[in-house]
Amino acid sequence: MERTFAIIKPDAVERRLTGQILGRIEGSGFTIRAMRFEHLTRADAEGFYAVHRGRPFFRALTEFMSSGPCVVLALEAPDAIRKWRDLMGATDPAKAAPGTLRKEFGSSIERNATHGSDAPETAAFELGYFFRGMDLI
Ligand code: CMP
Repeated sequence: MERTFAIIKPDAVERRLTGQILGRIEGSGFTIRAMRFEHLTRADAEGFYAVHRGRPFFRALTEFMSSGPCVVLALEAPDAIRKWRDLMGATDPAKAAPGTLRKEFGSSIERNATHGSDAPETAAFELGYFFRGMDLI
């Protein structure tokens, strides 16, 4: 078993897509280990996306991610990191494969509906950023 970290981003929550996305997550065989609504502050978003500091999209990204509530999740499945990235599809919804969440629900590279960890080290950092060990038992 592996765990990964996921976000249903503010664009998807605002468009009332949370239920559909959770259905796709469970329907794809993930166990939801922890989940909550979280309205990030700008500082929360900057800390979470610290690896992107200095990129041209950093300011807009952190502004968007703190613009409304999102849903943060710990997902568990065999090969969860790859499996969740496959279900989300490419970062840019325009390039995402048919049937993926970003293709279906994303509207731009920034407002792309979901986030997922890209490697085991990132998953460990991101899970720890939002959840206490106690939440993940
Ligand atoms: P996410 O998986 O949350 O990780 C970083 C986010 O930055 C990414 O999804 C995109 O929503 C956002 N982003 C905005 N512009 C770009 C860009 N040009 N390249 C990569 N990511 C971008």
